[in-house]
Amino acid sequence: MIVLLGYMGCGKSTIGKLLASRTGLQFIDFDEFIEKKEGKSITAIFKQHGEVYFRKKEHQYLNELLNSAPEAVISLGGGTPCFGNNMQLLLDSKAKVVYLKAKIDTLTQRLLKEKEQRPLIKDIPDTELEEFIRKHLFERNYFYLQAPVKIEVDTLTAEEVVDQ
Ligand code: S3P
Repeated sequence: MIVLLGYMGCGKSTIGKLLASRTGLQFIDFDEFIEKKEGKSITAIFKQHGEVYFRKKEHQYLNELLNSAPEAVISLGGGTPCFGNNMQLLLDSKAKVVYLKAKIDTLTQRLLKEKEQRPLIKDIPDTELEEFIRKHLFERNYFYLQAPVKIEVDTLTAEEVVDQ
């Protein structure tokens, strides 16, 4: 099992799909896994039940997934490692945990184009997005940086990240 983590927009899903096809492993997008289990989109979960409910479900399904230990490449949600004991669960599992590390500028450029489907940033004005990401990433790096493997993705193509 290979688990990819990192901030929204770092390329977890794109890299995960490529890595899965290259290794012949199954690909699991954890956001999609939650959406299937809950029968609604992440946006709808946030809207109808709020973030606390989402985090509770995220924790529950992470446990479920790690216990079933599929031979798979798993792309987590950006916040997954940062709540409850999720990062410890990941580190205690047999998964190879990889942080796709991207610079604030890279993330801002990408997320300016993809705000809508992301409930945490969709209402932040474009002019304030970079400052939001700076603070948010500073908090989240406490968790992300515990990953034993870190790949700086800014100047690499998706293929090159998969090579590493
Ligand atoms: C979140 C990231 C999203 C999704 C949810 C919350 C976060 O996943 O899980 O909107 O807290 O960073 P992506 O990183 O795939 O956008």
